Amino acid sequence: METVLTDFRKKVSNAIDRAFGDVLSKEERMADMAPCMQEGFGHYQCNSALALSKVLKQNPRSVAEKIIEHFDARDCARVEIAGPGFINFTLSPAYLSAALNAHLKSRYLGAVPPAKRQRVIVEFSSPNIAKELHVGHVRSTIIGDCLARLFEFLDQDVLRLNHLGDWGTQFGMLIAYLKENHPALLTGEEKMTLELLMQWYKAAKKQFDEDPAFKKRSQHEVVLLQAGDKHALFAWRLMCDVSRTGFQEIYDLMDVRLTERGESFYNPFLKEVIDELDRKKLITLSDGAKCVYLDGFKGREGEPLPVIVQKSDGGYNYDTTDLAAIRHRIFIEKADRIIYVTDQGQSLHFQMVFAVAEKAGWLDPAKVKVDHVGFGLVLGSDGKKFKTRSGDTEKLIDLLFGAIDKARAILQERHPDADPKEIDHLARVLGVSAVKYADLSSLRTKDYTFSYDRMLRFEGNTAVFLLYAYVRINGIKRKTGANMEEVLKTHQIALNHPTEMALGVHLVRFGEIIEIMARDLLPNRLTDYLYELAEKFNAFFRDCRVEGVPEEGSRLVLCELTAKVLKQGLEILGIETVNRL
Ligand code: ARG
Repeated sequence: METVLTDFRKKVSNAIDRAFGDVLSKEERMADMAPCMQEGFGHYQCNSALALSKVLKQNPRSVAEKIIEHFDARDCARVEIAGPGFINFTLSPAYLSAALNAHLKSRYLGAVPPAKRQRVIVEFSSPNIAKELHVGHVRSTIIGDCLARLFEFLDQDVLRLNHLGDWGTQFGMLIAYLKENHPALLTGEEKMTLELLMQWYKAAKKQFDEDPAFKKRSQHEVVLLQAGDKHALFAWRLMCDVSRTGFQEIYDLMDVRLTERGESFYNPFLKEVIDELDRKKLITLSDGAKCVYLDGFKGREGEPLPVIVQKSDGGYNYDTTDLAAIRHRIFIEKADRIIYVTDQGQSLHFQMVFAVAEKAGWLDPAKVKVDHVGFGLVLGSDGKKFKTRSGDTEKLIDLLFGAIDKARAILQERHPDADPKEIDHLARVLGVSAVKYADLSSLRTKDYTFSYDRMLRFEGNTAVFLLYAYVRINGIKRKTGANMEEVLKTHQIALNHPTEMALGVHLVRFGEIIEIMARDLLPNRLTDYLYELAEKFNAFFRDCRVEGVPEEGSRLVLCELTAKVLKQGLEILGIETVNRL
């Protein structure tokens, strides 16, 4: 199956071919098609005539006329030229109904998985050991999970990687601090908790910055750790375990799955990476540090900006690990596509890592696609970086529980007599969904302002609004008392009323949206689509009776498809549907 847009692109390309085939190149014969900007004009438009008019040296309207002459219009209710030479196509209700009935039968609902199954690595979340997940990681976790779900829906071979910050100099500092201040930890007589670990992190950092002797001892601990020293490793594992438990609590609450493969995983490959870069003559020494210089990367003063791959003391860094990681993902994991979800601030880092990987001959952009999916900051209502009242960066877990508490209060007010257990369940779904949706629905490259009140509204572009629409559709189906299984066997979608038609046209576009989102990795493509879907459904339901009219069967099937697309879309966003609100 293909999308309607693809089908029409083929049909119009055929017409161009028949009209001007002998004088145009293959690319020029490919129709430039898009959905119509304005609903009243039609459903899809062809923008080719303007560009072709230059090649053919004819006026665009007459080019458009010739294309129409050769176009097989049996699936259209109307084909019209508009403005300087756009061609607008209005689908016939019969064609549209047939497409929708076919979508209803497919589990892809009109989306088209790529012909060849691809290995897609989505690296996301990636918090740091001994620190709490903060609001900066919230976006990575939510966006990354959504993208992973998108590719899973399209049946791709998805590997979800958590690139935990579990290695590096800060561990030397922590190990030194633990050894000196809490030796009983290392013998198992004292227990560690996440709270304590984070307090110690702050204390250790302070001492590290103020006390040169402690700094020295810390650096020594790093060397020990990297050399596999038993005590250092024991302390390191202890910290990782405590942190991991804390992270898992959040992932469970958010229903996010991840495979942990932290920085430490790549430690055994770091030397190989440097050796290979050395052999390939890519390394320049600068003040004792090993550097790779790249064309086109300049510092603030226009000076060449190197990637430091090994410090002068022999230590490896964040860049070295990322080089080892990309090499591993290409050669061992055999990835076709690698997606990195982090804040926009790391964009330069990734562009440089990709460039080194290309220069080293590991990354061939024609074979492996790499994307840095960057995102903006989370802002508080004051327009500044989101902070708690105490001035600390907001912790993710508090943020989620905050949203759940607010959702519970709203639900209790709406249903004072409801079973507290049910309210608890609904509050959890609503709270977590609201946080996820607020994030996904804002253009990810921009900063977004966090507001419980806005994200929990029942009206507007919110998770609650969509969940409510879903509940409502199911309510309508239930109210007619029809046996849906029977109805689906005996009835098909037939579109009559204009708002019914508008809903149908929107439903048929689900696959197009999925295709665009898989390309540009912008989740708000899908949230915008679903929001519009809910609105179109509401308009349909306002104008078209379902219960007790001759069209009841066909309209119930239309409701069913709407519910399915809504549920599937929400699932890709990581939002669980409910049966009651
Ligand atoms: N741990 C890092 C942070 O908290 C994010 C890791 C991003 N991924 C990577 N491959 N460098 O900022």
